[in-house]
Amino acid sequence: MFSKPSYPLIGAMLAALAAIALAAYVAWQVTRPVPIATSGITRSVAVPAQIKIGGPFTLTDHEGKRVTDADYRGKLMLIYFGYGFCPDVCPTELQNIAVALDEMGDAAAAVQPIFITVDPERDTVDFLAEYVSNFHSRMVGLTGSSKEIDAAATLYRVYHAKVKSGSDEDYLVDHSSFVYLMGRDGTFLTMFRGATDPKKIATIISDYLKSRT
Ligand code: NI
Repeated sequence: MFSKPSYPLIGAMLAALAAIALAAYVAWQVTRPVPIATSGITRSVAVPAQIKIGGPFTLTDHEGKRVTDADYRGKLMLIYFGYGFCPDVCPTELQNIAVALDEMGDAAAAVQPIFITVDPERDTVDFLAEYVSNFHSRMVGLTGSSKEIDAAATLYRVYHAKVKSGSDEDYLVDHSSFVYLMGRDGTFLTMFRGATDPKKIATIISDYLKSRT
């Protein structure tokens, strides 16, 4: 009964294996990270190629001026989303950004540090003016209507949600904590996890400045 191998069956099995292999290949293509970086250290966060990060926003800066992302063309944008009342994570990240820029020396002039609030109710223009100046003299603080902030956060895939507490005024905002590096044309280059070593951030930005003018 088994003396004659069933060729059609083997053929069907091979076809099934080929289909599985193809499906696996397609899945790998879709999920493989965007190749980033030019030098040796493991850096930044791998982002699947099909995930778009960033895009056009219209907000108000800490001087009360209406601005769009296009106002920062020609410079790399280093963007962080957070809020002024954040007890620890935001101040640490903004400090890291400032240290990274200082680390870069004169080359830092090609980078615009930007803080976008996810708490526009409390982070007013006046509040932001003082807040960002605590971290870096060139840091721009951006606020806007809740709708404008939500739109910008959505483009950068930033999660944020108010955490209710005792009083209405005294609340925390849960939020994701990444630092985004955008190119001179406003397109996404890479992003850094929270608590990335500022020296590493400085090295990566410097590499981008050298490799893409
Ligand atoms: Ni925070």
